[in-house]
Amino acid sequence: MEMSHRGKAFSSILAQAQSDLRELLAIPDNYKVMFLQGGGTSQFSALPLNLTKAGDTVDYIVTGSWSKKAAQEAQAYGLKVNVAAKGDMASVPDRASWKLSDNATYACYCDNETIQGVEFKAPPEVGDTLLVADMSSNFCSKPVDVSKYGVIFAGAQKNIGPAGVVVVIAREDLLGKSRQETPTVMDYQTMQDSLHNTPPCWSIYMCGLIFSHMLKGGGIEAYARKNRGKAQVLYSAIENSDGFYHSPVARANRSNMNAPFTIPRSQDLEKEFIAAATKQGLTELKGHRSVGGMRASIYNSMPDEGVEALVAFMKDFANKHA
Ligand SMILES: Cc1ncc(COP(=O)(O)O)c(C=O)c1O
Repeated sequence: MEMSHRGKAFSSILAQAQSDLRELLAIPDNYKVMFLQGGGTSQFSALPLNLTKAGDTVDYIVTGSWSKKAAQEAQAYGLKVNVAAKGDMASVPDRASWKLSDNATYACYCDNETIQGVEFKAPPEVGDTLLVADMSSNFCSKPVDVSKYGVIFAGAQKNIGPAGVVVVIAREDLLGKSRQETPTVMDYQTMQDSLHNTPPCWSIYMCGLIFSHMLKGGGIEAYARKNRGKAQVLYSAIENSDGFYHSPVARANRSNMNAPFTIPRSQDLEKEFIAAATKQGLTELKGHRSVGGMRASIYNSMPDEGVEALVAFMKDFANKHA
C-alpha cells in the first residue's frame, strides 16, 4: 500500500493485471484497458462525457434497475435520451419491439441486471450503432467478443476484486473526444494508462491476483462452464419444486449470476426462509429491497458446494411447508 504508483514494483503489478485480463478475455490490441475509480456508477456519467456532444441522441435498452439508472443519469448531459426498449424488468423485450434511433451516438445496455436477474445471452443487435455495455455483475463470468463493443465497463466487486475500481475497456479510436467539461479523472484519453493520478493500487493488485488465478484455473471457458452448471442446478430446483418456489424471470434471460426467486404462497414464508437459511450459514439471500423475495447471487467464487447446500436447504424447507 505504500508503494509509489510510478515505481517499478507497482508498474509491473499494473502491467501484469492488464495483460492477464487481456489474455483472459482475448481483448484485441486496439482496445485500452483501464482501472479507474468511482465504481460502475461513475461510468453512467463518463460515457456521455467521453462519447457525446450536447444535443446528440443516445439509445438505452432498459431491462432492469441498473440500465434504468444509467439512462436517467444520461439525462443530465443535454442529450436526447431515447429509451429504445423497456421491458417488464423480467425479460429482454422482443428485439422486434425495440425502437432504436437512426442517429444514436451509442446504444447502452446492461448485460446482467443484478437486481432483477435478467441477463443477455448474446450481445444485442444494434446495427452500426456503437454498442456500450455495463457488465458490472457478470464481468469475467463468460467469454465476451470485445470487438462487438465500443466500451465495456464493469465495477469490480462481483467477480474480480474490491469495490471502488471500475474496469473500462474502450476502443482506442473513441479516446480523445471528451467534452471540455469532463472531469480529468473521467477522461478516457487522460486516464488510459491508469496513472494520471494515484490509482487504486491495492485493489488493482487484488484484481490482478484474481485474473492470474482464473488463467491458472482453466481460463474464461472453464469459469463459464462452471457458472452454467451452478445456475442449472439452482433453476432446476426452483422448476422442480411443484410451484413452491417461483422464478419471475423469462427462461431465456435467466441470469447465471443472480437468481431471484419467490415463494408465491406467502411473504411470511419468504421471511421464514431467509431467517432459517441464515441460521444454517446460507447468508445474503434476501432479495433487493426494491423487488423483495429472495435472490441467490452465485458469482464466480461461489463453489458448487455452496449451490448444492442451498438447493438441499430449499428442498427441505419446501417439504416442511408442503
Ligand atoms: C449492473 C450494475 N451496474 C452498476 C452498478 C453500480 O456499481 P457501483 O456500486 O460500483 O457504482 C452495479 C452495482 O451493483 C451493478 O450491479
